[in-house]
Amino acid sequence: MSNEFFQAHPPRTVLITGAARRLGREIALTLAKEGWQVAVHYRKSAEDASKTVADCVRLARVSASFYADLNDETAVRQLLPDVVHYFGHLDAVVNNASAFDHDTAANFGFAAMEKHMRSNVGAAIVLSQLLADHLRARCAHGVVVNLLDQKLWNPNPDFLSYTLSKAALEVATNMLAIELAPHVRVVGVAPGLTLPSQMQSQEKFDKLHKLSPLGHSSSAADVAATVSFALNNNAITGTTLMVDGGQHLMAFKHDFSLM
Ligand SMILES: NC(=O)c1ccc[n+]([C@@H]2O[C@H](COP(=O)([O-])OP(=O)(O)OC[C@H]3O[C@@H](n4cnc5c(N)ncnc54)[C@H](OP(=O)(O)O)[C@@H]3O)[C@@H](O)[C@H]2O)c1
Repeated sequence: MSNEFFQAHPPRTVLITGAARRLGREIALTLAKEGWQVAVHYRKSAEDASKTVADCVRLARVSASFYADLNDETAVRQLLPDVVHYFGHLDAVVNNASAFDHDTAANFGFAAMEKHMRSNVGAAIVLSQLLADHLRARCAHGVVVNLLDQKLWNPNPDFLSYTLSKAALEVATNMLAIELAPHVRVVGVAPGLTLPSQMQSQEKFDKLHKLSPLGHSSSAADVAATVSFALNNNAITGTTLMVDGGQHLMAFKHDFSLM
């Protein structure tokens, strides 16, 4: 195809936060396969980020990695212009990165709350705001996908600060969908138990994964396919897609990591 074609129809570009490893990497590879140019954001996992970029490039797509500590507002505000500078434009942001530290009402403190609110909520809102400005300037439309958690629909007392941050992000998803329309759609994707946490053995994870009405929770591929669906369906905004085998319909006394 001619250069003029590519200038008129540049490939869509997505920024995925925390995309070096685990779910973020799976989302990156799925979207690269579908033709997206992928900006792989990372913080500590530089080596894994390079591997994800190399694998996206192998899928015949342009990809690059970008460092930012999402607790730092200045770094978050620099991330999106850096991505736009590299790719020329940006069409979507997947807010996947997340702090996930254990606390409960017994040891709750402002420091843990602030940490989770900064990276899991503040960064996601700032990136949405900057994407909206960028899209308005281009008279273009785009999408924000926020990774949530099925546990919001059936909460237990574990991971208090994390859960509060995801609850805030769920409300922000709806508020942003109203305010940023029509340029930006904003969609939540809420996985069930998908990958083992640092507190779980594989054996325990395999047992817990079966605890759902469907007899299985979500796979990383299920979650990535739902993110892709949210990015591609032009009628969805201000709602959350649950991808959890129905886990949100069951009550659990504790978080899976502690069961
Ligand atoms: N895994 C599950 O079963 C499950 C279940 C329900 C919901 N979810 C949601 O799905 C998403 C992905 O899950 P996951 O288990 O793959 O996540 P994860 O491994 O716990 O974290 C993903 C990445 O977030 C990045 N991150 C954390 N704090 C950061 C900060 N301050 N600045 C920059 N990056 C930061 C880390 O990047 P670096 O390694 O580069 O530092 C990390 O690799 C999360 O939003 C999670 O809440 C997951």
